[in-house]
Amino acid sequence: MIRNARLDDVADLRELINSHAERGRMLFRSVADLYESLRDFKIYELDGRTVGCCGLQIIWADLAEVKSLAVRDGFQGRGIGSALVRAVIEEARQLHLPRIFTLTLEPEFFQKLRFIQVPMDSLPLKVWSDCVHCPKQDNCDEIAMMLKLKP
Ligand SMILES: CC(C)(COP(=O)(O)OP(=O)(O)OC[C@H]1O[C@@H](n2cnc3c(N)ncnc32)[C@H](O)[C@@H]1OP(=O)(O)O)[C@@H](O)C(=O)NCCC(=O)NCCS
Repeated sequence: MIRNARLDDVADLRELINSHAERGRMLFRSVADLYESLRDFKIYELDGRTVGCCGLQIIWADLAEVKSLAVRDGFQGRGIGSALVRAVIEEARQLHLPRIFTLTLEPEFFQKLRFIQVPMDSLPLKVWSDCVHCPKQDNCDEIAMMLKLKP
């Protein structure tokens, strides 16, 4: 079941996201940051357990970022990650966003969802505000992927 995140999800979100961040797969999120951005998050719940999450953060009038996508170890490869991304795509459509992007180390996963690779410098400067928190900021290995939602 995919649902919007609630206040009592913050501890699970932190543990899930940071377990992947410790392995260099994504950015760490602090508890303070998670409370602030909680309304951006969707949760995949299975038998009462949080097994996946995905955020959609609005950047500007024409752009939002898919971020902090994570599926718990042992639950990957079951369609949970793609279901979460489809859910935020649907939300982006409802918001009338013309395009969404992500910065990722998993371009093939996003390609399957019809995102296409774009040059990093095609994204607005505001996108890079998170980079100050990233240990790899001078050695960024992420790939920018964009999905256009309007013809
Ligand atoms: C990347 C991740 C979100 C994928 O979620 P998932 O639930 O395992 O993926 P799904 O089961 O929905 O896979 C959907 C499709 O993508 C493919 N896929 C999944 N992970 C992939 C990868 N790393 N590389 C290439 N293809 C991948 C699957 O084989 C599947 O293909 P199919 O439709 O042809 O069968 C998950 O593995 C994860 O949490 N990884 C660690 C954290 C991370 O890297 N997050 C992304 C940060 S942007």
